[in-house]
Amino acid sequence: MYSTNGKIAPLADIVSVAEDGGCAIIMDETHAFGCHGPDGAGLVVEQGLAHRVHFRTIGLSKAMAARGGVVVGSRKNMEYFRYEARPMIFSTSVLGYEVAGFNTTLDIIAAEPWRRERLHTNHRYLKDGLLDLGYDVSESDSQIISIVTGTIEDSAVFRRFLEERGVMGSPFCAPATPENKALMRFTVNSSLTREQLDHTLNVCAEALRKLDKIRWPGLLNVRHPLPSVPQKRQTLVRCAGQTA
Ligand SMILES: Cc1ncc(COP(=O)(O)O)c(C=O)c1O
Repeated sequence: MYSTNGKIAPLADIVSVAEDGGCAIIMDETHAFGCHGPDGAGLVVEQGLAHRVHFRTIGLSKAMAARGGVVVGSRKNMEYFRYEARPMIFSTSVLGYEVAGFNTTLDIIAAEPWRRERLHTNHRYLKDGLLDLGYDVSESDSQIISIVTGTIEDSAVFRRFLEERGVMGSPFCAPATPENKALMRFTVNSSLTREQLDHTLNVCAEALRKLDKIRWPGLLNVRHPLPSVPQKRQTLVRCAGQTA
């Protein structure tokens, strides 16, 4: 799952192409683990590709609510990894209390599938609501939903507007996105209530009415030429969408 727009990659096609070319395959399941597949095992397992994917990487900072990462593979491939992934020898090992935390989180992920169901219901509700408002969020297949705001400046304005109304959005800009295709990312979680989702939708509706200086290139059926940012103002804006 892409971290900028929530789109799910065509994994089976990627695996076929890689196999035709004799390539080893590494899938990053950071955003999918815990949220997809049987017991939250991820998209590779969900799509029956575990035996054809050599390595899966999982960042633990998303559904696992921790830090660090995991590499998963067959015994043989992990033996290869142990000797060939040289930076690994500099890693500090995880501690006992961290392992205990991971185990408890894994138990919750496996035993409480209702959280995944609610996550996907919440995602559908917010995505459909944003589509109804005219935001083109059609690429979002799962919990990440992004609105293309265009310039870094416009993203900063939108970010502040959201924050003042209690809505958390993460701005992304070049080089994480193409130039002038900065975006605002919403990450849905399972504990959001219907009221909170409606509040987010109301704030996004209000933004369309009030932030009329923003060109909103990410609206459905609206094709504006990309605005050019005056050089002087560009220097006042930092990448994270904060004014300097
Ligand atoms: C797709 C993907 N993989 C890996 C990571 C790494 O996560 P972290 O830096 O929290 O370990 C991220 C971070 O957001 C990500 O989006």
